[in-house]
Amino acid sequence: MVDRRAAGVPLEHVLGWAEFCGLRIAVDPGVFVPRRRTEFLVRQAVVLARRAASPAEETAAAAGQAGALPRVIVVDLCCGSGALGAALAVALSQVELHAADIDPAAVRCARRNIACAGQVYEGDLYDPLPTSLRGRVDILAANVPYVPTQEIGLLPAEARVHEARVALDGGADGLGVLRRVAAAAPLWLAPGGHLLVEASERQAQQAVEAVARAGLIPQVASSEELNATVVIGTRPVPKTGAGG
Ligand SMILES: C[S@@+](CC[C@H](N)C(=O)[O-])C[C@H]1O[C@@H](n2cnc3c(N)ncnc32)[C@H](O)[C@@H]1O
Repeated sequence: MVDRRAAGVPLEHVLGWAEFCGLRIAVDPGVFVPRRRTEFLVRQAVVLARRAASPAEETAAAAGQAGALPRVIVVDLCCGSGALGAALAVALSQVELHAADIDPAAVRCARRNIACAGQVYEGDLYDPLPTSLRGRVDILAANVPYVPTQEIGLLPAEARVHEARVALDGGADGLGVLRRVAAAAPLWLAPGGHLLVEASERQAQQAVEAVARAGLIPQVASSEELNATVVIGTRPVPKTGAGG
């Protein structure tokens, strides 16, 4: 193990796991190592999901039906090891979790990490998701690749050499995958549901524009401590009937 680490293999690939949100997440060779900064996206998602659940909780508690609470539907798109989905399943009590990735190695890994907490699918973005989820997703967490192609060569060798290119390369300006995710998000989100994507601080404005262009209400959250920027897009809730 020391030899492999000294040769530049990321510690998490040597050990076979990474710590993420206090969980031990299995990470196979080549699979993206979940980053500490992405815990910020998880925290934002938890706050939004709890805020959405609280009116239903109050109603159920008043009716003495706490067990009858609606489950939060969470999708972890571009899930890699499934770290975000696993963390959200632990943090939110009632969750229906779906995760997807295009890389078969990531999908195998996510299946181990998510195990009985949810379903993992293989394919391009939304393609493998069950169509029954359309219009019902409360939290759509998508830590997509966002490194501009020209900047891949500047990454540390641990990422450049040991993580799959598809996990890093976001196209010319780094936002190619993010734009595709944002454009289709309104089809999958429930009214009031949230898309959360990570970007660099420099990319935030363009990411906001992509989210707004898709018809979602954009918002940016950032953490100086974790050097994290998250763009949130919320599907508007349609106004109820006249005078409502
Ligand atoms: C930056 S990694 C993030 C992985 C994980 N969400 C995390 O934060 O640890 C991006 C992931 O997106 C996946 N990916 C890239 N393009 C994709 C596509 N078109 N459809 C589905 N997954 C894709 C990669 O395989 C990789 O696992």
